Amino acid sequence: MGSLTNHQNQHDNKSTEQPHVAVIMVPFPAQGHLNQLMQLSCLITSYDIPVYYVGSAIHNRQAKVRINGLSPHDIAKIHFHDLPTPSFASPPPNPNSSNKFPAQLQPAWDATLGLRQPVATYLRDMSSKANRVVVIHDPMMAVVVQDVVSIHNAESYVFNCISAFCQFSFNCENKGIPFPIELPKELPSIEGCLSDEVQSIVALQMEPLNYRAGDIHNTCRLIEAPYLDLLAREDETGNRKRWAIGPILPTKLSLANKSSDGKLKCLEWLDKQEAKSVIYVSFGTTTSLSDEQIEELALGLEQSKQRFLWALRDADKGNVFDGEVRRVKLPEGFEERVKEMGIVVRDWAPQPEILAHPSTGGFMSHCGWNSCIESITMGVPIAAWPMHSDQPRNTMLVTDILKIGLVVREWTQREELVKASTIENVVRRLMASEEGNEIRKRAEELGATVRQATEEGGVSRVELDSFIAHITRDNDLLARTTSLGSSSQTSVV
Ligand SMILES: *[C@@H]1O[C@H](CO)[C@@H](O)[C@H](O)[C@H]1NC(C)=O
Ligand SMILES: *[C@@H]1O[C@H](CO)[C@@H](O)[C@H](O)[C@H]1NC(C)=O
Repeated sequence: MGSLTNHQNQHDNKSTEQPHVAVIMVPFPAQGHLNQLMQLSCLITSYDIPVYYVGSAIHNRQAKVRINGLSPHDIAKIHFHDLPTPSFASPPPNPNSSNKFPAQLQPAWDATLGLRQPVATYLRDMSSKANRVVVIHDPMMAVVVQDVVSIHNAESYVFNCISAFCQFSFNCENKGIPFPIELPKELPSIEGCLSDEVQSIVALQMEPLNYRAGDIHNTCRLIEAPYLDLLAREDETGNRKRWAIGPILPTKLSLANKSSDGKLKCLEWLDKQEAKSVIYVSFGTTTSLSDEQIEELALGLEQSKQRFLWALRDADKGNVFDGEVRRVKLPEGFEERVKEMGIVVRDWAPQPEILAHPSTGGFMSHCGWNSCIESITMGVPIAAWPMHSDQPRNTMLVTDILKIGLVVREWTQREELVKASTIENVVRRLMASEEGNEIRKRAEELGATVRQATEEGGVSRVELDSFIAHITRDNDLLARTTSLGSSSQTSVV
């Protein structure tokens, strides 16, 4: 009864308007991470739980302007809390660097690590307004949210935005142990994946990561059950919970409104192409290719004689709103020559809609986890050209393990220029060969089952419901004690 009395007292002191549970999202400021926590925010608000998305003003703005495929109705329900943006340098990426890790983002990340104090103040404030504060944070933000342990009614969960396969393999590497189950071939080397500076940010997270109550994964047991099980076995505390709720992107994208919006002219173009005839080419927001490499890629696409939609952008700066961006040059006359077969998009591309479009039959990708999970979900096979970080290992998952893709360039050859002839060859294999058709068929089948997993009764949906039930647990108890105490205070949400 002691705890009942406590709850009761807590309630009597509070307004009936406040939410029972407040979910606070704390993303890491890089597009792929901002995006996934936006997607998760939308999923959680759909359960009528208030979500607060917390970051520096410019990174919150970045998250909002680049929304892809999410419902405006869901987004309107998210509360954005802008922390003052610390000042940081925002240098351009270096397209000539042989190491493709986006080192230009480091100053923004360093500045973000200084947000511990304002985040702690915000969490304390929220803890006085809600019965329970649930912090969901990027693993790279553990050090920033660490004061959650000193707040009596707060708990934190890590949102893992990379594949379970990659995550587990990195853990093995850190511990110096071999990967415990047989793999089709040797794991790609970690060499060249990260910068020294980012490794030191990772190292800072290790201790505060121990404070987490559980893990959420943007993956699905249908894709990664063995690696999720391996991760579960690593938990020395034995009581951390784990939910694989992915894919968290919307799986039913509306294409009905595309024509009214000039920005989406690439979707109109796709409408005019034959089913599964187009390869979508994009290397995400952190890759900056040299002029020489862009030229080889352009020629390779042209020579393949396959239809293509190429999203051509330079990598992000720490502040994506700040100043000039390199406009990558294409070979002389290229766009004119290919105008019957391809289109180059330099604006922000609606990637999930492109991948969901019936004309899209392949994706040449750097294999960031967002791109992989989007491609898997939409049933599109991948031509994998990993650049850095988790991408070489995601490539292995997609090509050697799931068998829904081909490799453009092996990780061991990462310092070499990829020639037009190599690109031409791999595009033809994927888009115009029996081998490619089989890969595409497997990708389509996997996509269909993965989409099912997020439907009522599907494996990922069951895990999401379980997570929601967990963070809203004790509701009945609270409601009961409240109504026992005072009939005017029954509206605990
Ligand atoms: C990269 O190299 C090209 C020549 O290949 C040069 O024109 C360009 O200025 C270089 N860019 C940077 C940022 O160093
Ligand atoms: C199209 O856009 C309108 C106005 O933005 C919106 O109300 C409607 O729901 C959209 N239709 C679809 C099918 O997305």
